[in-house]
Amino acid sequence: MTEVIIQIQELTKQYPGAKELALRGLDLSVKQGEFFGLLGPNGSGKTTTISILCGLIQPTSGHISVAGHKIPGHLNAIKPLIGLVPQDIALYPTLTFVENLSFFGHLYGLRGQSLRQRIEQCIEIAGLNNFADKMIKTYSGGMKRRANLAAGLLHQPKIIFLDEPTVNVDPQSRNVIFDILQNINSNGTTIIYTTHYLEEAQQFCHRVAIMDQGKVICQDTPHNLIKNTAGSRDLGEVFLNLTGRHLRD
Ligand SMILES: Nc1ncnc2c1ncn2[C@@H]1O[C@H](COP(=O)(O)OP(=O)(O)OP(=O)(O)O)[C@@H](O)[C@H]1O
Ligand SMILES: [Mg+2]
Repeated sequence: MTEVIIQIQELTKQYPGAKELALRGLDLSVKQGEFFGLLGPNGSGKTTTISILCGLIQPTSGHISVAGHKIPGHLNAIKPLIGLVPQDIALYPTLTFVENLSFFGHLYGLRGQSLRQRIEQCIEIAGLNNFADKMIKTYSGGMKRRANLAAGLLHQPKIIFLDEPTVNVDPQSRNVIFDILQNINSNGTTIIYTTHYLEEAQQFCHRVAIMDQGKVICQDTPHNLIKNTAGSRDLGEVFLNLTGRHLRD
C-alpha cells in the first residue's frame, strides 16, 4: 500500500482576535506521490491549511505529520523536504531571475557547482533562458508565475505545495506549468495544490479534497466523486452540489 506522506487529524485554527475558527476539525491524508487537489470556496481554509503544513503559522489544536515528522514540533526536519509556491509572487522584483534563484538557493543551503547546476535547470524548466538576466519586474504575468514555480523547485523538495499556481495565467503558460508539475510528479514528487479551476483539477489530480467552512467535506478521486454525487456530470457540478450556491464573500 502507498505510504501516507501527510496526515492531518482534527486540525483547528483560530487566528488571533478572530471570533470564528478558520479550521474546525479538518481531517486529510495525502499519499506519497499523489497529485492532490485542495478545493473549496473562498475562505474555506485552503491557504490556512497549507500555511500550517509549511510552518508559517501555528495550529490551534490537532495532529499533523509530514513525511513521518510531527509538526509544529519537528519543523526543522520537514523544511528541507517541502517547497511552497505561494499565491502571491514571492520573488524580488528588482533582482534578475538568476539573482533571485541564487538568493533562495543560498537560503536552502545550496552552494557552488550544485547551486549553479540547479539554477541552470530551473531556468530551463521555467522556459526563461532568454530572460534569466532580466529583472522580475519586467516579466509578464505568465513569466512571473513560471519563475515563482521554478524558485519553489530549486532544492528539489519531496513535497511541493502550490497555492493557486495558475491564477491569471494564459493557456500557453498554464500548459507549461502543468507539463512541469506532471513531470516532477512522475519523478516521485508529491504535489498538493489549490485551485478554483475545477476542470483543471479534474484533469490532473489523482485525488481531491473539497473543503467548506474549515472542514474537508469529501476526499476521493474525481471519478468517484462524480459517480457518487447525485446530479453531477463533472467536478464543477460535484463542487456546487456539495458546497451550495450561495456566495461566500
Ligand atoms: N491572518 C488572518 N487573520 C484573521 N483571519 C484570517 C486570516 N487569514 C485568513 N483568515 C480567515 O480564515 C478563513 C480561511 O481563510 P483562507 O485564506 O485559509 O481561505 P482560502 O480557502 O484560502 O480562501 P481563498 O479561496 O479566497 O484563497 C477565512 O474566514 C479568512 O477570512
Ligand atoms: Mg487562499
